[in-house]
Amino acid sequence: MSSLPLNRRRTLLLGMGAGALLAQPWHPLLANSPPNPMAAMGHADDDMTAYSGPTELAPLSSLPRHRPLKPLPRLANRARRKQLFRSKLVAAPANLKLGSLPPTRVFAYNHMTPGPLIEAYEGDRVEIDFYNLLPQPSTVHWHGLAIPADQDGAPQDFIPAGGHRRYHFTLPPGSAGTHWYHPHPHMMTAEQVYRGLAGALIVRDRNDPLRHFPEQELFISDLKMAADGSIPPNDREDWMNGREGQFVLINGLHMPLITLVGTQRWRIWNACSARYLKLSLGGLEFTQVATDGGLLAAPVRGLTELLLAPAERAEIIVTAPSSGSSRIQLIAEPYDRGAMGRLAGLSQRRVLADIDIVHSSEATLEIPEVLRPITALGTPTAEHMVAFSDYVDLEAPPPSNPYERPQDMLFLVNGQTYDMERVDIEGRLGEVEEWTVINASAMGMEHPFHIHGGHFQVLERNFNGETTPEPFLAWRDTINIKAGESVTLRMRIDEPGLRMFHCHILEHEDLGMMGNILVSPP
Ligand code: C2O
Ligand code: CU
Ligand code: CU
Repeated sequence: MSSLPLNRRRTLLLGMGAGALLAQPWHPLLANSPPNPMAAMGHADDDMTAYSGPTELAPLSSLPRHRPLKPLPRLANRARRKQLFRSKLVAAPANLKLGSLPPTRVFAYNHMTPGPLIEAYEGDRVEIDFYNLLPQPSTVHWHGLAIPADQDGAPQDFIPAGGHRRYHFTLPPGSAGTHWYHPHPHMMTAEQVYRGLAGALIVRDRNDPLRHFPEQELFISDLKMAADGSIPPNDREDWMNGREGQFVLINGLHMPLITLVGTQRWRIWNACSARYLKLSLGGLEFTQVATDGGLLAAPVRGLTELLLAPAERAEIIVTAPSSGSSRIQLIAEPYDRGAMGRLAGLSQRRVLADIDIVHSSEATLEIPEVLRPITALGTPTAEHMVAFSDYVDLEAPPPSNPYERPQDMLFLVNGQTYDMERVDIEGRLGEVEEWTVINASAMGMEHPFHIHGGHFQVLERNFNGETTPEPFLAWRDTINIKAGESVTLRMRIDEPGLRMFHCHILEHEDLGMMGNILVSPP
């Protein structure tokens, strides 16, 4: 029962010690990284001390609802040969007319938000020319792909305002799944995402056992919009809790209309900065077939709810009931993630979309009992402990205005704020590592843990002195950790180089809840 505080104290101590040991001002693999892109670049929009827009938010009626959900626009493949996906992504400010208000100045990929869907196959080579036409440095991070570290879009590899680079990588076998891409510049990730930069990425497997299922994409994002149609900067509570706007969008649409005919495979992304989505179909049962690391070994049937923490994805199979109501709803059920202030307590139950059921007597598609083999990772040869912690520093200078980046909110990994040039954990290529990730939040907040460069398997979770083995084997790259909970997971990174791991509440990440792993050859 009292194991947690003990655990926590030990870990923090251990964490600090390990951090001090591993802290290196300089490392050969960091040699190419400039000392500090922000110092080098300046950064225009982040200086919100100048913000003078309205503080009231746009009413919910300012965005139209019930427009039919459409598939995400595809990024066109310009390659002339097979097994090559070549295209272009341009990040730039854009003025988009979203509803009845004046146009909203967003940050867009190829003039749209969310960005275009990238769709390719395992084994394909991907070449994307990225042009940064933002007033700030940026990167493109391919969230969920195990690709070489220098193509991962890390903050160390930023592209300055006006810059260009080509990202290129091969989609490794086993990478099929529901992934996404978003910027990852040092201390500016949250802003670039809440202004509109994020897009879906689907890697397909030609032998996918569910390839004959009709698909729908539900890319769920968050929008906070002021009464004049502008996107306001983060205020203190946004920084503290992570930002949740008044709108939840699916494929960019407010409360769209989804049509469910027969059996469908839904790919669902939680691309919100901080919003937790406890999804339900108002009681209709569905089957989960994939997590953010691709297909499960076996389908999980009979679900009525699915919790997606920020950055998590899932695939579910939904079948239209043959009789009964012809209109149901996609709902975000109340959830308490330990946020404070105006988000404290259970969130409001919220309708995300209406679903039109088309009744038919057609036979439903059968989901196979076995989806793919997943082998449990073997005995680890290295162990790491990582503790997320947060607190308010009462001694820090008080903010001079409500939109300032707070100096007094600390979001830490093993007692330290992220440092681009410090190696927090050293790993060996191809080695199975066991990580114990602890949420030692003093604020009582949940934090979703994410790691770059590979997927992990959760072994067990420890909460209130009780150990719960993970009910099914799955590959994941993001996992929610409740306040006071610790999660044991195993992973193996098969590419050398520098990677990050962090809380995927983007404001927490930007405030420093992030660390570097350096994976070296054995
Ligand atoms: Cu989507 Cu470093 O994350
Ligand atoms: Cu990532
Ligand atoms: Cu967090």
